[in-house]
Amino acid sequence: MCIGVFDSGVGGLSVWREIIKVLPETSITYFSDSAYCPYGNRSQQEIIERAYLITDFLLSKEAAVIVVACNTATAAAIKALREKYRIPFIGMEPAVKPAALHSKSGTIGVLATRGTLNGNHFHASVERFASDVNVIAKVGEGLVELVESGETSGVKVKELLKIYINPMLEQGADHIVLGCTHYPFLLESIKEVAGDNVVIVDPAPAIALRTLNVISENIIPLSEMISKDVYPTTFYTTAPTGTLMMMAHRIDPDIPDKNFNKIEI
Ligand code: DGL
Repeated sequence: MCIGVFDSGVGGLSVWREIIKVLPETSITYFSDSAYCPYGNRSQQEIIERAYLITDFLLSKEAAVIVVACNTATAAAIKALREKYRIPFIGMEPAVKPAALHSKSGTIGVLATRGTLNGNHFHASVERFASDVNVIAKVGEGLVELVESGETSGVKVKELLKIYINPMLEQGADHIVLGCTHYPFLLESIKEVAGDNVVIVDPAPAIALRTLNVISENIIPLSEMISKDVYPTTFYTTAPTGTLMMMAHRIDPDIPDKNFNKIEI
């Protein structure tokens, strides 16, 4: 059995990058729904339907656990997925809690898609963990599209980031939460815009540890997971494979090109 990981596009590779640090031997099947990306402005019903199709596909590849490496899909569909299927699903957490906990200025910024910021999950996290801090939430309109086209640095990226980050800085935010898995690929530019005094919070390492826990807690014994030497990590995308391959190769240049496949579902 393998670990299934999916996202609306290439953003979930920022979570995959962390999972392979804690589970380096385990086979992973990654699914990028790039033909339907961005999910951020789609209806909840549409995202649930895509999530069902992707889950069926990952189950056909013997996924024993699925990481929903997309904040927007987590907000829209994780409840429906858990109701429909028996395997464990690990979703993205908007990392409001650690940011609020460690903020000294009492102001934090959250950058995410419209779907995530409108979702109950985000509002519940703010109410529960950040009721005594000032939370400045901004929709990162256009950022997902830039990452999907492989453009992760340069003037255009920085100018767009300034629109969202400057108002956070003006109000004294000392932490900025990356509430979309595409955004860690913009980290260098985000740091340049935010400056050295702002902590950028990426929830991906915590999600990777949660994945390790689900496996080592014997919900699924590690011994039942197949090694990537036997079944190499494979990537599927509903769009042409170019960007997915390029972004994955930035993380692991040794993955053979033949492990990337275009598929229609
Ligand atoms: N990576 C997705 C997320 O974390 C991107 C959302 C989108 O496709 O709009 O929300």
